[in-house]
Amino acid sequence: MGPNGSGKSTLGKLVKGLLSPSSGQVRIAGQPLKPGEISPRIGYLFSNPENQIVSSLVEEDVAFGPGNRGLEPALLALRVEESLRRVGMEAYRRHAPHLLSGGQQQKIVIAGILAMECEALVLDEPTSMIDPESRREILDLFLKLHREKSLTFLHISHSLEDALRSEELIYLEEGRVLYSGPPEEFLTSPRFSESCPLQIPPLLRLVRGLRDRGHSLPPGIRSYDELKRALLGHSLFLDTRENKNL
Ligand SMILES: Nc1ncnc2c1ncn2[C@@H]1O[C@H](COP(=O)(O)OP(=O)(O)OP(=O)(O)O)[C@@H](O)[C@H]1O
Ligand SMILES: [Mg+2]
Repeated sequence: MGPNGSGKSTLGKLVKGLLSPSSGQVRIAGQPLKPGEISPRIGYLFSNPENQIVSSLVEEDVAFGPGNRGLEPALLALRVEESLRRVGMEAYRRHAPHLLSGGQQQKIVIAGILAMECEALVLDEPTSMIDPESRREILDLFLKLHREKSLTFLHISHSLEDALRSEELIYLEEGRVLYSGPPEEFLTSPRFSESCPLQIPPLLRLVRGLRDRGHSLPPGIRSYDELKRALLGHSLFLDTRENKNL
C-alpha cells in the first residue's frame, strides 16, 4: 500500500525485471536478478486484463506463455487444462476471451500465469476494474492458490480490506518503506491515520475502541468472527469468576 506515486508499481516492476534498478540489486529467493533479465519465476498481473490477452481463443491464450518456453504439446495441453480448472474456467476453453467479462478475463490471465508455473505473482491493483462480486471471487482464488500451491502474492492495492487479508503489509511513502509487518498493527496506529487519508475500517475502529475502554483483546483480530470469539472467551471467563464468588 501507499499513496499515489509512492513507488508501488515501480517496486512490482523491479521484482519482475520489467525495470532495472539504477542502484542496488533485486534478489528473488536469494538469487540476484541480472540487469535486463525478466524473471521467469515471477508472474505479473496488471489491472486491465485486456492488455494481457493475446489470443482469440481462451485455451490458446493460456498456452501462449508456456508454449513460448518450448513445452512439448502433450505436456502443454495438460498444463492448460489444469490451470483453467484451478481458476474455475475449464468450461470456457473454446470461448473468445474478448467476449468474457472483466473478472473472467482476469481469471484467464491468471490461468496463463499458473501455466507458466511461477512461484510468485505481482498483482498491480488486479481488481480495480472489475465488479465487487468478481472482485471477491478473484481475491478468494488468490487465497486458495496461496494455501494450496504455496504461491507468494505481492498484492498492490488501495483497499484496507485487502491489506487486512494479507500476512504482511508493506506501506510505502515517497519510495521508502514506512512500515512492514502485521497489517492490523499499522492500520490502527496513529502513524497510519496521519499519513493516509483513507478511513480506518470499522472492525479496526471497534477493536481500538474496545481496547481504549479497557478490554484486553488478543492481537491479530482481522474479522468479526475472531472478535466475537475473543469477546466470548472474555465474558465466559468473567462469568466463571462471578460464579465462584457466589
Ligand atoms: N523508470 C523510472 N525511473 C524513475 N522514476 C520512475 C520510473 N517509473 C516511475 N517513476 C516515478 O516513480 C514514482 C512512483 O511511481 P509508481 O508508478 O511506482 O507509483 P505508484 O505507487 O504505483 O502510484 P499509483 O498508486 O498512482 O499507481 C512516480 O513519481 C514516477 O514518476
Ligand atoms: Mg501504480
